[in-house]
Order: sequence, then structure tokens, then C-alpha cells
Amino acid sequence: MLKNDLILRAARGEKTERTPVWLMRQAGRILPEYRKVREKTKDFISFVKNPELAAEVTVQPVDILGVDAAIIFSDILVIPEAMGLPYKMMEAKGPLFEKTIRTEKDVAQMRRANGNDLHYVTDAIKLAKKELNGKVPLIGFAGAPWTIFAYMIEGSGSKTFSQAKKMLYTNPKLSHSLLQKITDSTINYLKAQISAGADMIQIFDSWAGILSHEYYNEFSLKYISQICDSVSGVPKIVFAKDAHFARKEMSKLNCEVIGLDWTMDISESRKLIVENKTLQGNADPCLLYADFSTIKKETEKMLRAFGPKRHIANLGHGLYPDIEKDKIKCFVDAVKEFRF
Ligand code: CP3
Repeated sequence: MLKNDLILRAARGEKTERTPVWLMRQAGRILPEYRKVREKTKDFISFVKNPELAAEVTVQPVDILGVDAAIIFSDILVIPEAMGLPYKMMEAKGPLFEKTIRTEKDVAQMRRANGNDLHYVTDAIKLAKKELNGKVPLIGFAGAPWTIFAYMIEGSGSKTFSQAKKMLYTNPKLSHSLLQKITDSTINYLKAQISAGADMIQIFDSWAGILSHEYYNEFSLKYISQICDSVSGVPKIVFAKDAHFARKEMSKLNCEVIGLDWTMDISESRKLIVENKTLQGNADPCLLYADFSTIKKETEKMLRAFGPKRHIANLGHGLYPDIEKDKIKCFVDAVKEFRF
């Protein structure tokens, strides 16, 4: 059984002794301990595919930073690979797909991934659960279908994802059939993560904010909604970065938690999102470049704005790799020491 289930209780809207905290991208380059383990494999992908190493770095932030949850070390791009579209992770540049999706035939060639295709992730989850030994819950995750689609069409990161958006405007039929295949694969994948022991899941829609409101509803929210309706048994967090316009509709999702980025006003978000949802977030990651007293002061201000119930403290997006470990710890401690 879990010794610390603060995050799960906060997700369900139960009273907690204090606000729980974890950080997006807590398992990664910000920890020298991570970089040391990472050196053992030749590249990022073989690291992700090694369950022992993935489990080891999953547990690191729990011990080193004192966060209230672990997140399984992996990447959202394991789904395109399992569907038949391999990628490379270019050092300091990000992901690169040699082949991208252009035609109906390309979509037809993509397979619907099942849980077995991603056994290295489920194996890592089982190992991490064992190593955590009930200390804190383990979060599983996947990319939202639109964000995955964006990488599969664009082939790499981009400021505008104009190729991916072009596909929505020029071939909505192809777009929907690919999005549906990604959605089906993601549902299988998240169910497998839960069977393997994930205590909670998060859906990352990192590129939500580049779509118009109408297109967001049609090409993203609809598929996130299918996932939320099909995956059950553990609390679900939906984090759609920059999707201000969608906050009201997101209330209708069959999920317990909505993630906010730092540009979303807290009291306005409480009004837009129905009361029976927990909110997660939302400090600017760049706050952690400030001095210790500023970090503490701003973190407490954030906690007061969210209030004592239905809040999971986090940043409004992932940690940047050059943020100092002591500054991160300062944020985590400020949350853990605060009492209403
Ligand atoms: O600690 C954690 O959050 C768990 C691990 C995790 C990674 N990626 C590891 C990783 C998680 C949850 C992700 C999610 C992810 N991956 C997202 C959604 C969240 C977000 O940031 O918006 C996205 C868009 C990706 C795709 C991706 N992976 C990109 C664009 C990059 C390159 C940019 C970068 O940050 O380096 C990655 C690489 C990646 N994924 C790294 C890590 C630790 C860095 C590579 C390395 O360590 O060599």
C-alpha cells in the first residue's frame, strides 16, 4: 500500500494535510545523478528501452527532490514508433523522424499499437513500483493524439508546426483517420500502464495552443475525450499547454485533474473549470532562476491563490535542463512546508 497518497487524494478532491507537489520533467537532465546513468547507453532511445535504467532514474527525484510522486521515465514519442514510425533523438536538437506521414497509404501502413508493443515501458513501470515500495504513487503518461500527430506529420520539433496544421486544413479526412489510430493506440497503451501498476496518468497536449478554438475542439479535444472515457481505474490529468480557450470545455472531460500553464490566471481558471475538478500547476519554470527568497515568496503566493483543496502543485510546463537542483528543492520545500 502507498505510504504517501496525497496526490491521489487531492486528485479526488479529498482533504489533504498539505498541498502535494511533483514537477514535469523531474526525471531528467536537471539531476547530475540522471546524467551519470544516461552515460551508460549510447543514445536516448536505448536508454528509454532499458527498463532497469528507466526505473532507476524514475525513482531518483523522489529520493533527491522529495516530490510526492514519481513519473515513469519514457517519452511521448514511443507511440509513433510502436505504430511503425521510428524516430531519433538528436543531441541538443530534439526528435527527428526520417519518414513522415503524407498520404492515405502512409496512414494505412501505421499499425494500432497494443500494450505488448511497449512492454519495455510496462516492464519499467513494474520495476519502478517495486523500487518505490509504496513510498509515493507512480504517474504513467502519453502524449495527446494531436501532439503525437504533429510530430508524425512535421517530422521534428517546430515553432509553428505548419506542416501538421496544413494537413488539418488540406486533408481533414486523412487527419481524422490518423488521429483515430493514434487514439486507439494510446488507449491500449495507457490501459497497459495501469495494469502494470501506474497509480495515475497524465496526457500531455504540448502543442494545444497553436490551434484555433474550433480546430482544437475538432482535432484534439474530441480524441482526448475518447481516451478519458475509455481509460478508467486511476485518476487522470489532462495538461493542454496554452489552451486558454478550451478551459471551459475541458470541464466536461471525464478526468479528475486539469493542468494549467503559467499564463493561465488561477482564479479565472477556477471559475471556468467546474468545481469538481482538481487543478495542477502552474509556476513559470523560469521562476526557478530567481533567488531563494523570491522562489519561496512566489510559491506561497501561488498556493494561496489555489487554496487548500483540489490543488496539485507543479510548474506550468517542464523544468528547463539548466535549472539548479537547489532551486528546484527550494520550490518543493516551499510547498511542503506551507500550511493554510
Ligand atoms: O521526468 C519526466 O517528465 C519523465 C520523462 C519525460 C521525457 N519526455 C523524457 C525526456 C516526459 C514526461 C516527456 C514528455 C515529452 N516528450 C513531451 C511532453 C511534455 C512537454 O515537454 O511538453 C514532449 C513534447 C516530448 C518530446 C521530446 N522529447 C522532445 C521535444 C525532446 C527534446 C527536447 C528536450 O527536452 O531535450 C525530448 C527529449 C527528452 N525526453 C529528454 C528527456 C529527459 C532529453 C533527452 C536526453 O536526456 O538526452
